[in-house]
Amino acid sequence: MTTGCFEYQDGALHCEQVPAEELAAGHGTPLYVYSRQALLSNLEALRSAFAPLDPRICFSLKSCQNLHLLRLLAGHGCGFDVVSGGELQRALEAGADPRQIVFAGVGKTDHEIRAALAAGVGLLNVESLSELEVLAGLARETGTQAHAALRINPDVDAHTHAYTTTGTRENKFGVDMHHVRQVFARAAELPAVCLRGLHVHIGSPITQVASFRDAIAQVLAIRDTLQRDGFTIDTLDLGGGLPAQYGDHPHPPLQEFADAVCGPLREAGVETVLEPGRVIAATAGLLLTRVLHVKRNGSRVFVVTDASMNELLRPALYQAYHFIWPVRAGKRVPQSQSADQPWPDLVPTDVVGPICETTDFLARGRPLPPLERGDLLAVFATGAYSMTMASQYNSRPRAAEVLVAGRRQQRIRRRETYDDLVAAERDLPEMEP
Ligand SMILES: Cc1ncc(COP(=O)(O)O)c(C=O)c1O
Repeated sequence: MTTGCFEYQDGALHCEQVPAEELAAGHGTPLYVYSRQALLSNLEALRSAFAPLDPRICFSLKSCQNLHLLRLLAGHGCGFDVVSGGELQRALEAGADPRQIVFAGVGKTDHEIRAALAAGVGLLNVESLSELEVLAGLARETGTQAHAALRINPDVDAHTHAYTTTGTRENKFGVDMHHVRQVFARAAELPAVCLRGLHVHIGSPITQVASFRDAIAQVLAIRDTLQRDGFTIDTLDLGGGLPAQYGDHPHPPLQEFADAVCGPLREAGVETVLEPGRVIAATAGLLLTRVLHVKRNGSRVFVVTDASMNELLRPALYQAYHFIWPVRAGKRVPQSQSADQPWPDLVPTDVVGPICETTDFLARGRPLPPLERGDLLAVFATGAYSMTMASQYNSRPRAAEVLVAGRRQQRIRRRETYDDLVAAERDLPEMEP
């Protein structure tokens, strides 16, 4: 499960050339650690897989949003996929070219749409007829023309967790295939909107190449229909959802996803946009956490760590799997932690946090070596949907983030303080009794 950038050297985990123990000692735990090299090589792998399309790569902020990491990606040619005014502000503050920003989301507020129009974002992805009307009204009001794509709902199952499937007909996302022509016909009557794109995102992570291929086939088919109707469609936004290696079961290589769609898309001669998140960021990060207590309740062994669902919500939310292993591992580092693990002295362990919820776990029944108070654990592949989903539930300040490049390390987000927790409530008058 380790990658070139997170490797065990002499039995101790390193991020690039910095020992994980040194990072934990210097910045405290829980701590998000990112590898610059991993982030950039994941970006390069994606770019090279889809090279025949030369796509616009709009990194999805919802997966990872630290300004320093966004600046790094912008500096390497990335645009951004945003879904809120806050994400738009981050992307702009990171120095993004607004024309390289796509603004998606099923429920943008008027305020957010105005901000997107004022910034001159490259593409607004519309998800309903109602939203199209609002967009046209606001564009007219502000004297701008909105460049838009219509998110279609292709009714294709991504075969991922039910909560992260977005492209089947019963989901809230996109426009039903039967209504697409109607939306384009209406857009033609609205000069303040230039609707020349189609957008699709069926969920994430997509585990089967066939789902990705089927969704793109649907997009190309509806594009043909629309072109026959006389509409011009010159941009296809393929969304995100390309998988990352979490260490539970292997997924098809990225190249297979690319090979399945590059031919027909090239033939269509359109500009393509990708909105990758996890495939770039997930394996570029890990979470360091310290063991607070080890206890046994009934037949179960619980390792209570200082990381929780605050720092990593995915296991609680989606029963997601993250490979976990001690930072000081001796010679033993498995490539996976399946129940049929090879070492008899591993203990099925529930790795849990301090939050007052039974769903506050990082792993359940996971084969791990015996652990004790003070041990440092690494939770792998937490570069995506970890810090961005972090909360302060139970009034726990959010953790710090650190970026490593070779032997260098740089704190890129300070640990929040107790003052941060109450800052937005202070200095407001008390309600009259
Ligand atoms: C519209 C859209 N684009 C892109 C993404 C990014 O997905 P991923 O991080 O799996 O690539 C998402 C994730 O939910 C999404 O909803």
